[in-house]
Amino acid sequence: MPNTNAPAWQALVAHQARFSSAHLRDLFASDPQRFERFSLELEGLLVDFSKQRIDDTTLRLLVDLAETARLGEWRARLFAGEKINFSEQRAVMHPALRYLKLGAFPSAAWDVMPEVRAVRAQMRAFSERVRGGLWRGFSGEAIRDVVNIGIGGSDLGPKMVVRTLSAYQRSGLRMHFVSNVDSAHLAKLLDSLDPRSTLFVVASKTFSTQETMLNAHTARAWLCAAAGEGWARALPLHFVAVTSDVGRAATFGLPEANVFRMWDWVGGRYSLWSAVGLPIALAIGMNGFERLLAGAQAMDTHFCEAPFDKNLPVLMALIGVWNTNFLGASTSAVLPYNESLRFLPSFLQQLEMESNGKTVGRDGLPLSCQANPIVWGEIGSNGQHAFFQLLHQGGWLVPSDFIASAQSDFPLPGHQAPLMANFLAQSAALAFGKTEAEARAELEAAGIAADQIAALLPHKVFAGNQPSTTIFLPRLDPFHLGMLLALYEHKVFVQGVVWGINSFDQWGVELGKQLAGRLLPALQGEGDTVGLDQSTRALIAWCRENGDF
Ligand code: F6P
Repeated sequence: MPNTNAPAWQALVAHQARFSSAHLRDLFASDPQRFERFSLELEGLLVDFSKQRIDDTTLRLLVDLAETARLGEWRARLFAGEKINFSEQRAVMHPALRYLKLGAFPSAAWDVMPEVRAVRAQMRAFSERVRGGLWRGFSGEAIRDVVNIGIGGSDLGPKMVVRTLSAYQRSGLRMHFVSNVDSAHLAKLLDSLDPRSTLFVVASKTFSTQETMLNAHTARAWLCAAAGEGWARALPLHFVAVTSDVGRAATFGLPEANVFRMWDWVGGRYSLWSAVGLPIALAIGMNGFERLLAGAQAMDTHFCEAPFDKNLPVLMALIGVWNTNFLGASTSAVLPYNESLRFLPSFLQQLEMESNGKTVGRDGLPLSCQANPIVWGEIGSNGQHAFFQLLHQGGWLVPSDFIASAQSDFPLPGHQAPLMANFLAQSAALAFGKTEAEARAELEAAGIAADQIAALLPHKVFAGNQPSTTIFLPRLDPFHLGMLLALYEHKVFVQGVVWGINSFDQWGVELGKQLAGRLLPALQGEGDTVGLDQSTRALIAWCRENGDF
């Protein structure tokens, strides 16, 4: 856990006490070079930290904090393939999945690249056959619809990337993602599909997740009913699996040739770079998928080589720590101004909150500080007409990431400039606000009477000083998306190191799963409710009376 009594932490506490009255208005007014000093560009990806409530001292002290947490050593351990996910005795090797150079990785002694490259080759061959219309269903028809069945990391990553890169999807394949155990998700989709031309990708690292397996079995029954007597021959023509458990996939009825392997050293929320990214390869082609990997690899290299004070993921992480632990923010908003990035907030929710949503450190002791803030978000400009009121005048400290691409991925005349104007206006308005004098001058200029001005004035003032980071991609292409996602992954890693957390397990999701397993028979009338709390017992009874299961 972080030692909050250590000099590096206490120096930040003291700095915050001195710095707390600083307003972004003053920080900008006193430094004409502020944008140059607090922004970085890497391979066309521009990250502007200047609207964060920081100065040179803040960054210097935060870098000291990272040094104290031995970030350099932890980063080396990550890239060496050490079992840093100690509670599950696993290495954390997602950077290997985007390693495109020749040779061994992470080391000659334990080189995972032959396996990784073999799966990439399998993905290429398969995706080319499906995209080229050579992979045929049981009646000889080419595939037109692909349904990814998965949940959590086996859904959010590939779905977000496929939707984000929809401008690059030229195969004509229609891509669908089913995750929810609520039958409304699958039922509505199946109604619109033709079993003869539908391919299911069952993505589950464990091949045992309840939601995924139930949806997969329902889809299998639907396919088999359509195939009739030839169902056993039809199954491998319409189902493939992405999993680390080949045995369970075989029990489901899939031969090894239909299984795309992943490994226990790939965490679910870090898995889109593995065969979990098969829908991405199917949608945009394997070359496009490898551009995504190349972008992520460029960020890996930058993360490993750049000094901490010029290192994008390190700075992003440390500024997040500053906002959470020293300025007192309990939330963090992701605000992408691009329709195609609609699923980015939910992807980042899993990445950040499942990784660092913890109160116990690696040493088993309670953390002495709050760790991950609550991550949420929505695309702009929609959010402006919904919840931005609270960001501007609600009195909460809400640091945000504004993300956009300079070029539109689906251009229409006259749309991109207003989008960018809104994008840039919001972070400026949040940072600088509007003083009482400015508001009064505006009202006076509009010819409003003095008594009305007095009544309106308090409502027209904006405190400002809401910190934000602006991330600009030149365009929403596979390479820059890969960079962006790896940027967030390493940010999460760095924060985990500073907070002293194992960012790669997720024991917190187990209790609910166990309880659901216990409640299911009770709901179906086959199990007892003895020992359950009074509220849950009463709700089960109500559910049995009113439900249809
Ligand atoms: O319940 C959480 C979780 O284990 C996530 O970490 C994971 O991404 C998701 O479930 C799905 O797991 P699987 O890929 O094994 O079905």
